[in-house]
Amino acid sequence: MVCEGNNKSYLKSQNLKIIGPSTLSGEVKISGAKNSALVLLAASLLTDEKIILENVPLLTDIEKMGNILKNLGVKLQTQDHQLIIDSSNISIKELPYELVNGLRASFFCIGALLARFGQASIPLPGGCNIGKRPINEHINGLKALGAEFIIEKEIVKAKLAEKKSRLFGANIRLNCPSVGATETLIMAASLARGRTVIENAAREPEIQDLCQMLNKMGAKIYDAGKEKIIIDGVQKLHGCSHKVIPDRIEAGTFLIAAAATLSSITVSPVIPNHLEAVLNKLEESGSKIIKKGNSISIRGKSIKAVDVKTAPFPGFPTDLQAPFMALMTIAKGRSKISETIFENRMTHVELLNRMGSSIIVKNNIAQIDGVKKLKGMTLVGSDLRSSAALIIAALISNRTSRVFGLDHLDRGYESFEIKLAQLGVEIIREFNKEFISKSDKSKSHLKKNLSEFEAA
Ligand code: EPZ
Repeated sequence: MVCEGNNKSYLKSQNLKIIGPSTLSGEVKISGAKNSALVLLAASLLTDEKIILENVPLLTDIEKMGNILKNLGVKLQTQDHQLIIDSSNISIKELPYELVNGLRASFFCIGALLARFGQASIPLPGGCNIGKRPINEHINGLKALGAEFIIEKEIVKAKLAEKKSRLFGANIRLNCPSVGATETLIMAASLARGRTVIENAAREPEIQDLCQMLNKMGAKIYDAGKEKIIIDGVQKLHGCSHKVIPDRIEAGTFLIAAAATLSSITVSPVIPNHLEAVLNKLEESGSKIIKKGNSISIRGKSIKAVDVKTAPFPGFPTDLQAPFMALMTIAKGRSKISETIFENRMTHVELLNRMGSSIIVKNNIAQIDGVKKLKGMTLVGSDLRSSAALIIAALISNRTSRVFGLDHLDRGYESFEIKLAQLGVEIIREFNKEFISKSDKSKSHLKKNLSEFEAA
């Protein structure tokens, strides 16, 4: 289980100590997908009957989403990786900011609450380290379905338009294939009167997983995973049991770590066609990939420089851009990585360069000249995926590294260091008893180490 946080910043209180260089071997078990489990939790608000979710990853983001639902009166029973959700008796009240702060997925509840109760009040999700994260696609789509909005003091207040007792179906065309907006609108349309067509919809596997669960609950959703999704609204949705799909981003992270350390590992369970674009790039770069049922084996043989451009699914996922860049730092030749989804998702570059990489970034395009080695050092991750990139860089490095900022990592990777240790990496989570506080000057030795770097 992730470390008890009681909302304390992990920045200084714990770190991962990694002895590089490492090689990995063996098989690693992939957890359920964070970005599927989060939206499935939001979707459970659509029914007053029980939802049983299996293969739920143990992550702080999931804990946060659970607290949000409990704040609405949802009853949650957690049993290992199983969650039993009972939304039969919930009160519609404003979600407090401190609960939703930092968890963008909390906003995805708005579609379900509007559809079931005709109203919702959720704080603006705001931006984060990787970008502004607007919600215009969510709002415009919900307006087309018959919702009205007032935004005051950073709170989004939504209700049905005058004299309407229910949302009504509409034809919606998204300007950009937003994952969250597609999910919000599918949930809202599932209980609307009539047919909704969403064009330029996002096609991510997590959306397909959501639609699979909704159809088990009695929804009528067609062509999930295609650019045009059709939803025929129904009066009521019933409970169901559903198993969360494996996390393709976690699986991709381990495959990239194996390629970077010239190792051979197997990741399972995984759905290979959820990672086509990443597997193609790893093979182009020189790794050998074998897909067999719900497992993928990789043998890192060489690392040639390859160009990557992130794109909506089925393109190369933005969530694996940072880990892949760590791989390219020691590739033979010059590679180019273009981030087209988020405006500020290159925060890992500065620390990778301090470790000895040769990366120049201009207009969200990174030019990377491969180097022979990286040197281990003290590092701080500043978002979920940049933290994973720094850990991969530490595995490649020729010295000990310490990676701080684990509150980011623990949001999206279940037992990451335990899984790496099981693959043979010398890695341990250190708890720094003296939790440095601003006022306390006496324990300055950690502060000295921490002061030599900024967050990536
Ligand atoms: C989801 O975020 C994921 N999060 C992200 O994973 C992932 O990186 C992202 O999709 C892209 O695949 C969850 O599923 C909880 P978007 P989401 O809306 O839905 C623009 C991780 O590391 N946009 O598809 O917030 C937006 O600015 C996280 O696990 C609008 O312009 O992403 C961005 O440029 C990070 N207006 C682009 O769309 C809107 O109303 C993609 O964003 C919404 C989005």
